[in-house]
Amino acid sequence: MNTIENLKKYNQTRILKLLENASAQNAKTLLTDLKKLNFDEFFETYNESQKEIKIDESKIKELPYLVKRELNPQMNKLFFDLGMEVLSSGEYAVVTMAGGQGTRLGHSGPKGTYSLDIGGSQKFLFEVLKENLEETNKKVGKTIPWYIMTSPENNELTQIFFENHNYFNYPKEDIIFFKQNHLPLIDTEGQILIDKDYHVKKASDGSGSAYNSLKNDGCLEDMEKRGIKWIFIGGVDNILLKQTDPVLLGMAIYKNSQIASKTILKSYPDEKVGLFCSYDKHPRVIEYSEMPREIAYELTNDNELKYKEAHIMCNLYTLDALKFLSEQKLPYHIAFKKNSYLDESGKEIIPFKPNSYKLESFIFDGFPYFDDIALLRGDREENFAPIKNKEGKDSPATAKVLYKNYHTKR
Ligand code: UD1
Repeated sequence: MNTIENLKKYNQTRILKLLENASAQNAKTLLTDLKKLNFDEFFETYNESQKEIKIDESKIKELPYLVKRELNPQMNKLFFDLGMEVLSSGEYAVVTMAGGQGTRLGHSGPKGTYSLDIGGSQKFLFEVLKENLEETNKKVGKTIPWYIMTSPENNELTQIFFENHNYFNYPKEDIIFFKQNHLPLIDTEGQILIDKDYHVKKASDGSGSAYNSLKNDGCLEDMEKRGIKWIFIGGVDNILLKQTDPVLLGMAIYKNSQIASKTILKSYPDEKVGLFCSYDKHPRVIEYSEMPREIAYELTNDNELKYKEAHIMCNLYTLDALKFLSEQKLPYHIAFKKNSYLDESGKEIIPFKPNSYKLESFIFDGFPYFDDIALLRGDREENFAPIKNKEGKDSPATAKVLYKNYHTKR
């Protein structure tokens, strides 16, 4: 089917009219871009994402977990030693997901290039993560391979940034960039948005993209060659993220789990964090945006939140688990966002309220494929200083205080 037939099949009336009104050059640009789009696959994904995610409360149970500070000294040592063995053998790699847009923060570049004054000096988010890796590298006498997920939008900028900063003195051959996918944005009438440069307007397709992208860009193969057995996957925006906790790793090994995660206690019902639970006998995270209010607010007899193990993007996998996940098609969720677009006459429309859907898969939608997950609850003050918003909650200002408090106590 040619592009025009596809546009007609999927009722893309705005684009068809735009093509009639556009200059020959602009029409050519748009048609070339549209030709690359697999319409059937995209609309199937879009239709799937429109289905309401039903959460059957009767299927939700609590998941077992251990609390790090309550481990007895023998258990703590056992886990620590098991974890250190893997770290010291060079069988551990770290993945940073840095393909997100960071719109809430209001930073125009890749989020990892945001800098803030912490510990008495100006540091980039990427630099903070690098320092955390370096600390372990020094202890174990090995360099942890660091895989960085970028998006088609920020890949070049991210790589140039690292080059300009001499890879922050991390061995260049141990920093490996890979690119996630992106998908068209679509409005409430099912019309694909076109950008002012006459390209299809796209956005990165969510953290769940990491699994397929690691495979497609040859990273899983590279890990295999390097003898990697365990892989940590984390976000770019938590300046207290512990990427190499031997106790979490040792616990996963001890429990013979394929996947593990560090949690913290959710602090209030509306906190914007995903929550771990057992759903239909499989581990699952219910995202804050999809959490039924009754569940978010449900209390135990002791007046504590019933579901409280927060997902902080601090996840661990065996290489086999990642290989398996890279072959799965995770579900897509929709986020309603504000996006400018060209109308049928070619005029740019800048909406004042959300007008379009962004399709995203979530990294933790890989968890239900497994029977169990090793969950270790850490202290919030040690593990979580997120930078999400420009001001207020989870902002650079709050993260700085948390970072300072943690590092002064150490
Ligand atoms: C995320 C988690 C949430 C968790 C919270 C903790 C998801 C869907 N949600 O929420 O459960 O409690 O962090 O802070 O994972 N990213 C990409 N590509 C994308 C989208 C995101 O690389 O297409 C990266 C971001 O750069 C960031 C991380 O994933 O490092 C988190 O993404 P974000 O969309 O900001 O998630 P939150 O809503 O904060």
